[in-house]
Amino acid sequence: MEKRWKCEEDILCGVNEAKDAGNLTDLEKKHIPVIQCPEEVKKNEPFNINIEVGRLTPHPNEASHFIEWLEIYSGDTFLGRMSFSGGASYPKATFKVKLSHAHGPIKVWEKCNLHGLWESTKMIKVE
Ligand SMILES: [Fe+2]
Repeated sequence: MEKRWKCEEDILCGVNEAKDAGNLTDLEKKHIPVIQCPEEVKKNEPFNINIEVGRLTPHPNEASHFIEWLEIYSGDTFLGRMSFSGGASYPKATFKVKLSHAHGPIKVWEKCNLHGLWESTKMIKVE
């Protein structure tokens, strides 16, 4: 695992991710973005990436507790961002993208207004 600059016990410091993917906590299930996309894509051909937060366990969606936004990256290259309104819109998005190459996995960051920043990744091969 890459080095993380965060305080282990402070979820508002740095980026949170699943500590044990095979045994997620309730907090992790509510906040880990679920990424659905092909494992392999053709260079410069558009494809869809579906993202959903709360797919494993529903996350509250109220004005006082909600997912504010999510961002999608290819490795560390920014691809897109979507913002949500607590109580009205749901943290679910489809991005249509094309990649000429990849230096790493598809990476998603999501921001909960109470529980900070969360990440998940999915490997993708570009040929
Ligand atoms: Fe939360």
